[in-house]
Amino acid sequence: MSKPRILIARKIFPEVIERLSQHFDVEANQDDMLWSDAELTERLKDKDGALTTGTQPIGAELLAACPRLKIVANMTVGYNNFDVAAMTAAGVLGTNTPDVLTETTADFGFALLMATARRVTESEHYLRAGKWTRWSYDMFAGTEVHGSTLGILGMGRIGQAIARRGAHGFGMNVIYHNRSRLAPALEAECKARYVSKDELLANADHLVLVLPYTPESHHAMGAAEIARMKPTATLINIARGGIVDDAALAQALKDRTIAAAGLDVFEGEPAVNPWLLQVPNVVLTPHIASATVKTRLKMSDLAADNLIAYLAGRAPLTPVNEPAHPRLSRN
Ligand code: DGY
Repeated sequence: MSKPRILIARKIFPEVIERLSQHFDVEANQDDMLWSDAELTERLKDKDGALTTGTQPIGAELLAACPRLKIVANMTVGYNNFDVAAMTAAGVLGTNTPDVLTETTADFGFALLMATARRVTESEHYLRAGKWTRWSYDMFAGTEVHGSTLGILGMGRIGQAIARRGAHGFGMNVIYHNRSRLAPALEAECKARYVSKDELLANADHLVLVLPYTPESHHAMGAAEIARMKPTATLINIARGGIVDDAALAQALKDRTIAAAGLDVFEGEPAVNPWLLQVPNVVLTPHIASATVKTRLKMSDLAADNLIAYLAGRAPLTPVNEPAHPRLSRN
């Protein structure tokens, strides 16, 4: 019997390709070409499954053109590249990689918060430029982290991991806003207090965004929301581009209506709003919050495990939908 065929849409760890090759006829992309939607569709026409990295859009048109496709396994926790309703209707399973990246991503959220509040990159650029000639009392004086108020917008697993770091590690007063309130035991463990979004914006010294990107969360932090923040506050986005109105944020940073921002994700990335590149009070990183070797390997392994299980007729580990009429008839 011939093996199912899969496409690996971007370059990944060779050992994961090797493992997948034991189960599947694999087309890999180790040259890391960035395919157009049409080219992705063309390559998926004869495939049973795909391993994607979160930037390949999977929508109705592609699904209609790829009748063999049964599963798309993202090696990311966010899956805003999936049209979930279209996948469910087409009988195609989607999977993501929750849990394995939670602590690593929370570590990075904190690193970005610290770097932003304490002006780490701005001061390093100054030093590298040879501008450091003497000490002065207010040189790169930033914002306090310990004991301050940490606001978290979106309180899933990563939000909770950031809350624990803030409350237990830095003695921060943690407040959060989320679509649904956490169970009391979880709130107590995270030492986090539920507040309205308005209260969150008005009181956070450091506001970290960790919510999924959906049509509802588009520009959840626009000009009006940013204007409600304290002039001394910092804004950290490790969630998705599009949640913040980057142009409005650049203006606020320029006008110093908030103190600083730390951004790992951008609207239209990898392009970055040019105004953000002009302001000094922003720390910019290229979407690396989950990027440790160990975690990226775990993410690829989990995506591979989903493909292996599902295409063998077993239950997927981390599904994001439940197709009513799966293209795969399960055992
Ligand atoms: C995720 O897993 O969603 C991260 O943003 C990495 O892409």
